[in-house]
Amino acid sequence: MIEIKKNIYWLGIKDWELREFHGHELSTHRGSSYNSYLIKDKKNVLIDTVWNPHKDEFEAILEKEVGIDNIDMIVINHSEPDHAGSLGYIMSKIPDVPVYCSKAGAEILKKHFHKDWNFKIVKTGDTINIGEYDLVFVEMRMIHWPDSMMTYVKGANLVFSNDAFGQHFASAGLFNDETDNCELYQEAIKYYANILTPMSPLIKKKVEEVRALNLPIDIIAPSHGVLWRDNPTQIIDKYYEWSQEYNENSVIIIYDTMYDATKKMAEAIGEGLHKNNVKFKLFNASVTDSSDLITEIFKAKGIIMGSCTVNNTVLHSISALLEEIKAHKYKGKIAAGFGSYGWSGESPKTITKALEAAGLKVVLEPYKVEYQPTEEDIIKGIEFGENFAKHMF
Ligand code: FEO
Repeated sequence: MIEIKKNIYWLGIKDWELREFHGHELSTHRGSSYNSYLIKDKKNVLIDTVWNPHKDEFEAILEKEVGIDNIDMIVINHSEPDHAGSLGYIMSKIPDVPVYCSKAGAEILKKHFHKDWNFKIVKTGDTINIGEYDLVFVEMRMIHWPDSMMTYVKGANLVFSNDAFGQHFASAGLFNDETDNCELYQEAIKYYANILTPMSPLIKKKVEEVRALNLPIDIIAPSHGVLWRDNPTQIIDKYYEWSQEYNENSVIIIYDTMYDATKKMAEAIGEGLHKNNVKFKLFNASVTDSSDLITEIFKAKGIIMGSCTVNNTVLHSISALLEEIKAHKYKGKIAAGFGSYGWSGESPKTITKALEAAGLKVVLEPYKVEYQPTEEDIIKGIEFGENFAKHMF
């Protein structure tokens, strides 16, 4: 347990080994943490819990530091099992203790645990005095679940932001000034890119709403990763930037290939981009971590995707990625498709149509090559890259 402000403690679990999250959906190369907090005021308040597999370790910490029987109230900012998972166990010990959460939070918790605990429903602006401090609740509907909310500790200038501003990042230091900031930002943007991008319009509005409150903020304490103490609002500013058609004016070329024809086409396109001073990255989707790819797509302004044609369609790594691109609801990105084929040749058109349907602006007709590219085909690929580059400025 670490004191982060007077009588306010971090008592989370660092999971250094975690390499996958949300089942097998999201990669977590640097592990993660589940940050729970305890306020020892006139009331002992537990803020969120940890994922159920860590419940025994968490129970031992709670018993040592406060005693589960001495918890007076629990705040559940978000009912997803990585934060509320251990609640079932805690409530089996103290079933009458009030659980403060949003209306949707209570509904979801009932459906997860099939228990009707002593829920206290709170909404934005509701304030509870716990002694020296007041807790002020701010709903964060759909950022990223219907129930999500933040809890602001008035008097301590501290925000328990739950998922918002967090990172899947197990770090020796607890605060941003105690960790490698390059790694921290890699994980913070990966978190945003993979989990929060579809909610960007809501995030922009929420940041504006929170800024208008003009709350003094000394610490932002998310439920994953490190806490923001050094210039804490820097991550709010970043979220504001990321929520508005963010890109780094670069291109990502993503392809899948069977006999390297589409790979050679991808490299030719890259050559054309480079000749025109456009930065690009090139990935074979079938051998690249898909969460990392989503992060790179988030950072790119231009997305060029290719696959050879197989069974009248694209290779499966590309079809899966096209679905993800659609789900992320990107705005302000440009795109084009390409691919090799033997006889029917549907893939470049399939990719182009899917990118368009996903809301990207397709700026070029697809680049196609029959079987293996000739020298002339490679020149066409370089020109394709050069033409794409013209749309970048
Ligand atoms: Fe939405 Fe960290 O759970």
